[in-house]
Amino acid sequence: MHQTGRIMQVQIETSSVEHLTADALAVICFETEKESGDPRAAVSAVHVDPEIAQQSGWLAELRESGEFAGKLYEMATRHRPEGLAVKQLVVIGGGKKEKFSATEMRRIGGVLVRALKPKGVRDLALALEPGHSEYVMAGVEGMILGAWEADKYKSDPQKNEKRVDSFRIAVPGGDEKSLQEAAERGRIVAEAQNLARDLVNEPANKLTPAALAEAAKEVASGVGMQCEVLDQAAMEKLGMGALLGVAQGSENPPYLIKMQYRPSVQRDGDHLALVGKGVTFDTGGVSIKPSDGMEKMKYDMAGAAAVIGAMKAIGQLKPSITVTGYIATVENMVSGNAQRPGDIVTTLSGKTVEVLNTDAEGRLILADAITYANRNGATHIIDAATLTGAISIALGHYYIGAFTNNDNLMDRFLRASRAAGEKTWPMPMDEEYKEYLKSAFADLPNIGGRYGGSITAAWFLREFADPTPWVHLDIAGTAWLDDGKAWLSKGPTGVAVRSFVQAALDWNRAS
Ligand code: BES
Ligand code: MN
Ligand code: ZN
Repeated sequence: MHQTGRIMQVQIETSSVEHLTADALAVICFETEKESGDPRAAVSAVHVDPEIAQQSGWLAELRESGEFAGKLYEMATRHRPEGLAVKQLVVIGGGKKEKFSATEMRRIGGVLVRALKPKGVRDLALALEPGHSEYVMAGVEGMILGAWEADKYKSDPQKNEKRVDSFRIAVPGGDEKSLQEAAERGRIVAEAQNLARDLVNEPANKLTPAALAEAAKEVASGVGMQCEVLDQAAMEKLGMGALLGVAQGSENPPYLIKMQYRPSVQRDGDHLALVGKGVTFDTGGVSIKPSDGMEKMKYDMAGAAAVIGAMKAIGQLKPSITVTGYIATVENMVSGNAQRPGDIVTTLSGKTVEVLNTDAEGRLILADAITYANRNGATHIIDAATLTGAISIALGHYYIGAFTNNDNLMDRFLRASRAAGEKTWPMPMDEEYKEYLKSAFADLPNIGGRYGGSITAAWFLREFADPTPWVHLDIAGTAWLDDGKAWLSKGPTGVAVRSFVQAALDWNRAS
């Protein structure tokens, strides 16, 4: 169903670039002051070795003519460059050198692939100077993420021909082993993120809750991880009334998926649970959504996809902490048996909930999944969910909104997220907001009032997470890109995968 098998080729070259053969070799050049006397200064590349420096006449000319100034993502190409074996040499702007970071590097990787792919480049090399493993990792990530397209269901027969499928990073004189390690980590993380994007890209007629459970099992067995799936009968027995209430309107039965990674040596008793919202389609239920744009609600399982993607990378990169992925997966439909507004359900925790709006379904299924994670020994919980439209009103489409009951865990997560090059912003969760959640007939309503919609949703979840340290990520604004970028296709982004993986890998480094 998805494209898990598509492993990209990534290689490190540490010898001189002179004899390197590739369809294209890319070099990064920074923006410099026009006034500086030396024309070579105008083209100071991240990597200038003798062979590439030979091209500095061409580069200086480019700059003098005004064709290329080194602005971020700007590009110029020279075919059959003298002194080099590659078919073309591509310079790409790195912007201001002082502002350059792994984020720019990742995007440059994507821009190169997306710009060169339609021009028949299949085999791309990027030259970097030694001593920057973080750029190697980010560059590899950017190239693999940039290569992904939402074209699985397009039958264009040429689609496979216009694809970059071999990536090389050329670091003349670099330390092969550490560079190889950085490239491999970048490949694993980016492919895990692309797996999440593949899952989100699947339409809801293909990716049912059962299909999502199959995908999780396949991923788990691929990396030698345990995977258990609770079916409807098992969940009824446990008493997951909130999750089952959402599921009852659909012909497609719900599942609760559990994937577990155990390290061979663990330093402490910590047990991280990653919990994902897996609503394979959200019509809103009886509180039905407007039809305009409803087709996008296939992405309401992006939290689940992020957990599955992260678990795959965690299985390969082997952090020294136990990590369990929990995925609650249902389809929120309308039918003669659908949940009604006003229904009261009993959650796994025993708390009762008045369902005032059947479209606030994500928090209902997560409530039971979080309680289940707690019962199964989680010492820390991080959930990811396309939970509220309100998070896009608050933060736009750039930042994940993060909520917590524990500032220490929040700090750890924010650090990991920053290191992984994702944007996460901490949101307030003061006790006052809890006042918005009052039900006349049950312990809790499933919606607050008109204001602070993402915060009341988070408070609802917190009722089931407490007292375990917990962070909730609202990814409704960031899991889907409406307009493609020069470095990333439109559609699913696979957001949160990189932060999850980084948080697990860094677990014992800072606590
Ligand atoms: N899946 C939606 C949230 C969503 C909205 C995700 C837009 C992506 C894009 C969620 O289940 C939902 O419907 N939330 C409601 C909550 C409301 C009924 C309190 C919302 O945001 O409108
Ligand atoms: Mn909804
Ligand atoms: Zn939803």
